[in-house]
Amino acid sequence: MLMSGRFAVCPESDLPEGGSLKTRAGGELVAIFKQQDKLYALADTCSHAQSSLSEGEISPGAVSCPLHGARFDLDTGQALSLPATRPVQTFAVEVENGEIVVTIP
Ligand code: FES
Repeated sequence: MLMSGRFAVCPESDLPEGGSLKTRAGGELVAIFKQQDKLYALADTCSHAQSSLSEGEISPGAVSCPLHGARFDLDTGQALSLPATRPVQTFAVEVENGEIVVTIP
């Protein structure tokens, strides 16, 4: 069941620069990325098929799906290349008292 709210994920120090992790927040699978000290949170499941974006390769401002290589904008979730044509949802993410906190609307 999906629930809205703010969910603490893990200590911010657990996510290294250029790293990613997968978590479940409010029933939603969320991929969290850190790039140049900024955090991004996207729906983990690719909009093309069943693949986990948290296992994808990160390039500046984007992540590539590990299954067929579609790229998604880390800020907006927009699909930047085929075969994906639909965006993935993005979520607000911040650090609070040293913890990564994701907001599920
Ligand atoms: S499952 Fe992601 S591009 Fe196909």
